[in-house]
Amino acid sequence: MGVRTARIVVLASGKGSNLRALHAHSLAQEDCPFEIVAVLSDKAQSGAVAYANEQGIPVALVPFNKDDERLKWDERLSATIDGFKPDWVVLAGFMRIVGGHTVRAFEGRMINIHPSLLPSFRGLHAVRQALKAGVRITGCTVHLVDHDVDTGPILGQAAVAVNDDDNEGVLQERIQRVEHRLLPAVINKLCGAATRAVQSNELLVV
Ligand code: GRF
Repeated sequence: MGVRTARIVVLASGKGSNLRALHAHSLAQEDCPFEIVAVLSDKAQSGAVAYANEQGIPVALVPFNKDDERLKWDERLSATIDGFKPDWVVLAGFMRIVGGHTVRAFEGRMINIHPSLLPSFRGLHAVRQALKAGVRITGCTVHLVDHDVDTGPILGQAAVAVNDDDNEGVLQERIQRVEHRLLPAVINKLCGAATRAVQSNELLVV
């Protein structure tokens, strides 16, 4: 008997390029060990929601209204995620800090992708921070979510060189192209698939 396909819920607020990459990967990979069962967003008008609708992936909206209490919103978020019975919850550009209630509910099963080599450049504008610091190598990280921002145990990282003429947009785009390979690689591994050996010259390690 085959292994059960893992259920993934993706939380996204923005453009949704990681969602696209992950979904495309799940369709293209033979015997993919995971499927995206829902997309949750706080933003109805987002690329992520548009893509999910286009692809027939169930969408749930959890907007943060201006008179919402943080705890109530967090309880709503956690109940909505739970309704899809996920094995893994993936934060892919979810722009609100997930509260303690949700973090506890999915502890060890919630992952985040961040555009720097953590522990460097946590928080907002990670690419800008890297350029400002003058590092010559940056990249992206997938990690488990814990109770602080961008601090949980690291599951995989990929390195990206910083070019002399990079600006924030150009470097961000190069990092994102690597994110689109790192995230499926990490999730494959979490879901029990054998990972391909890391090729020489390729600094992507899961
Ligand atoms: C990614 O760069 C990710 O590292 C960060 O938010 C961005 C989301 O981009 N957490 P997208 O919406 O997946 O295109």
